[in-house]
Amino acid sequence: MSQIIGVDIGTTACKAMLIDEHCRIIAQHSVEYPMLSPRPGWTEQNPDDWVAAANACVAALGKCDALGFTGQMHGSVFLDERENVIRPALLWNDQRTVAEVREIESVLGIESIFAATCNPPLSGFQAPKILWLRNNEPNNFKRLVSVLLPKDYVRLKLTGDKMTDCSDASGTGLFDVPNRCWASALIENLDLDANIFPPSFESYELPGAGDQAAGAVGVGSITTEVANISLGTSGVVFASQEDASYDATGRAHTFCHANGKWHSMGVMLSCGGAIRWVRDVFGFRDFDEMASLARKARASDARFYPYLAGERTPHNDPMLRGSFSGLALADSRAEISRAVFEGVTFALTDCFRVVSGLRKQPIASIRATGGGSKSDFWLQMLADALAIPVCRVSTDGGPALGAAILAGVKLGTWASLEEATSNIKPTEIFEPDSGRSELLRARYHTWSTNLSNME
Ligand code: XUL
Repeated sequence: MSQIIGVDIGTTACKAMLIDEHCRIIAQHSVEYPMLSPRPGWTEQNPDDWVAAANACVAALGKCDALGFTGQMHGSVFLDERENVIRPALLWNDQRTVAEVREIESVLGIESIFAATCNPPLSGFQAPKILWLRNNEPNNFKRLVSVLLPKDYVRLKLTGDKMTDCSDASGTGLFDVPNRCWASALIENLDLDANIFPPSFESYELPGAGDQAAGAVGVGSITTEVANISLGTSGVVFASQEDASYDATGRAHTFCHANGKWHSMGVMLSCGGAIRWVRDVFGFRDFDEMASLARKARASDARFYPYLAGERTPHNDPMLRGSFSGLALADSRAEISRAVFEGVTFALTDCFRVVSGLRKQPIASIRATGGGSKSDFWLQMLADALAIPVCRVSTDGGPALGAAILAGVKLGTWASLEEATSNIKPTEIFEPDSGRSELLRARYHTWSTNLSNME
């Protein structure tokens, strides 16, 4: 049996796993590293910390025949001519580039940006980070020979290959998503040297992918019938597409998928994070206490809007804030808990509606992952709210599993991604109940109307 390892350069830690030919996890190892925030809104990491962590993880798992890479998207690793890091990398959640986003919009024009990249220019993307270096650290910019995404720098140091894949490159803001190549006209119009970007390949050629595309591969979400929802601190609704249709108002992302096609993705910032915040601030014992109280709640007008850190999909507003409304004296901790689960579920419904509006094929089922997917109560509520079956899968290995699968396909362990992911089976399935779906649809409607009235 070949030794196939997937390495995930996450935001808090590197996680690596060794899998077998049934996509089962044989062993895993993780090593944490620090996040630096030299100023409010700035987030940075030292790329050589990722390399040290990845080396330690791979060594802990033993000899390997194939290595796949995934990781946090959008970051910028600036390298000089000797392939040394010029300064700490700016990360996906760094907010310093507001002026550079405006610069990109005014130089390129929003229509040509959308037409080439399928996305609006966002401050987290790599492109404004390069302009920030040019505008703010000219001496560092003069030394710039290459800019890499986080997992591509780790690949360079572990294997000597300088390259990227279409899924991760889609999050730079300078990649031609429909044609799956660098957007050379945009790069030239920004007066950047096209040679700073590495050659791009398909994910199964490298092998590697951005964390969302790799996570989707890891749950078998590579066809238009199956979507996946990640219930972590943030929430992600991810759906494969046959073409590069995008939302012209920029409410959701359209990126290249790891299977040679495309996907759209809605991201809500406070999902499990909002539930955790309410738990801590209101003094609930734990998640399970909130879920069991919510299950017993009586009908109430209590509503919760989970925008504690602004919102990406569908509002695209970093200044949006959360709120409770419709509270009455008769409401107890049970009704508050119910409102919180509903509020987060309705915000995911918003993401789902934008994503499903971009496609011709209906989504037949959803695979749920992340910490929140352990909750039967929440998965049932999601199935009822979306009126679609929601299931857990046999192996929930996250992006590292997807990276390992891509490595196995490249090695020839499986003939295709389809063959590999057929090993990942739905286990518990939560079917929607028509009566509860009806009720939730009405509550979602009031929740949305109230939000529009507040805006
Ligand atoms: C994707 C995104 C995150 C980061 C960090 O657009 O912002 O998934 O890749 O995990």
